[in-house]
Amino acid sequence: MAEMKTRHDAFVDELRDTDDAEQQLTKALPKMAKAATSPNLRAAFESHLEETREHVTRLEKVFASLDEKVRGKHCDGIAGIIDEAKAVMAEDFDDATMDACLIAGGQRAEQYEMAAYGSLIAWARVLEYTEPADLVQQTLDEEKAADEKLSSLAEGGINQQAAGTAHPEGADEDEDPPPPKKGSKVVARPKKGAKAVSTPKSTRRP
Ligand SMILES: [Fe+2]
Ligand SMILES: [Fe+2]
Repeated sequence: MAEMKTRHDAFVDELRDTDDAEQQLTKALPKMAKAATSPNLRAAFESHLEETREHVTRLEKVFASLDEKVRGKHCDGIAGIIDEAKAVMAEDFDDATMDACLIAGGQRAEQYEMAAYGSLIAWARVLEYTEPADLVQQTLDEEKAADEKLSSLAEGGINQQAAGTAHPEGADEDEDPPPPKKGSKVVARPKKGAKAVSTPKSTRRP
């Protein structure tokens, strides 16, 4: 009978999954930066690309500290998120709407990473892997900052601009829109005064 796997094995498995997620993101982020129109959004993706490369390096240090081989294991979760972002980038949206969609896709990726690193830190603490816990914490802090940066860009105008292109100037905000014509696309219309959708500041794990 095969030997039962331990929490250490599960930890290393998660590390491999996360390493692969980071590798996939180093390929996806340049495409998202290229697709962005807002210079600030492009800069945010480019600077997080640099951080993402550092995340890969940090994970290598974690593997080394545990005397484990650096190896990725295909991460289906981030692959799905990246596929969705690619599908959005293939759409024919106006610039502001594309930027808003890129932010939404980017935040999905950041929050996925935050969930993965949150678990890794909790497990590292249980296993008393101090160095891995510290290294992973640094990365988690950067993922959170990247997520918050995207929220602030969205709230700082990109969502509003995208809403503006959905409702060109002159449209009366106080009147209900006419019912959509049969077969036409229905576009969600935010209520007047409604706040831009943002993500919670913290998704910290217990
Ligand atoms: Fe990362
Ligand atoms: Fe990230």
